[in-house]
Amino acid sequence: MSESRSCTLITGASSGIGAALARALAPEGRTLVLVARRLERLNRLASSLRADHRVSVEVIPLDLDAQGAVPQLLSALADRGLEVHTLVNNAGFGLRGRFHQSSPEEVQRMLTLMVEVPTQLIQSLLPAMQASRQGRIVNVASLAGLIPGLPGSCLYSASKAFLIRLSQSLAAENRSLGIRVMVLCPGYVHTEFHAVLGVEERMRRLPDLFWMESEEVAGLAVRALGGNRVVVVPGAVNRLMALLATSLPEPVAVALSSRFSSRYRSRP
Ligand SMILES: NC(=O)c1ccc[n+]([C@@H]2O[C@H](COP(=O)([O-])OP(=O)(O)OC[C@H]3O[C@@H](n4cnc5c(N)ncnc54)[C@H](OP(=O)(O)O)[C@@H]3O)[C@@H](O)[C@H]2O)c1
Repeated sequence: MSESRSCTLITGASSGIGAALARALAPEGRTLVLVARRLERLNRLASSLRADHRVSVEVIPLDLDAQGAVPQLLSALADRGLEVHTLVNNAGFGLRGRFHQSSPEEVQRMLTLMVEVPTQLIQSLLPAMQASRQGRIVNVASLAGLIPGLPGSCLYSASKAFLIRLSQSLAAENRSLGIRVMVLCPGYVHTEFHAVLGVEERMRRLPDLFWMESEEVAGLAVRALGGNRVVVVPGAVNRLMALLATSLPEPVAVALSSRFSSRYRSRP
């Protein structure tokens, strides 16, 4: 029987932060496994990664919101003899409008992709990491998961807060087993996220200082992986916002964030 290959699995690798993380992790030399729905995008990225980094890249086109997606992904990995050394739970999207304006289907899609799928992947892949006493789990959350009171971002911020808390506890449980758990909390990043959300026009009004590029975020994330900080907030402005959100009295933090969020995120 052939030996298994150690790999880095990245969900939502067809654009934005996921694609940038694939580029930033490629120099490590481990086989990259790119997962998302748009096959053509994944293939294009895979070709450029192979050419630029002489790295092995596997593409698995999959709708992670579809029923049975996680078992399907796990069996695709097993068929290819791949063992996950680094899991990057990155796939995600935003919902527009207030909580009561979302359909039950939209709510379920978000809970599946951004809560259930990362949880199931971690639960499935952690035992092998524990057995080999090595591995890394990177959950891509958001600054929104650290900030209380975000109208227009109820379920999104709650799902990111879930990922942050899950990561903190997982890190505490697994640190002594040699497993690195990190949760990345970016602020506003230029990706396709806001176009998918349908708020691109509105977001243009947001001053430049709030924005980062996905390459910068990914570079900082990979550097932070070498350290031991669990909650990583890239960018000085974002770190200041995280500090205010977590240190101001809650009613003050909620009042400030509600005003800010209503301007940019609520359904017009
Ligand atoms: N951009 C920001 O300002 C920002 C800030 C903080 C956190 N984040 C987080 O960063 C992560 C990446 O977002 P991004 O900004 O890079 O946005 P993006 O450019 O829209 O990328 C989202 C990725 O998720 C994938 N995806 C979405 N639904 C999927 C599904 N059902 N099955 C499989 N893949 C799916 C998309 O691929 P396909 O469409 O090809 O499936 C795409 O690769 C998300 O978790 C987001 O919440 C973004």
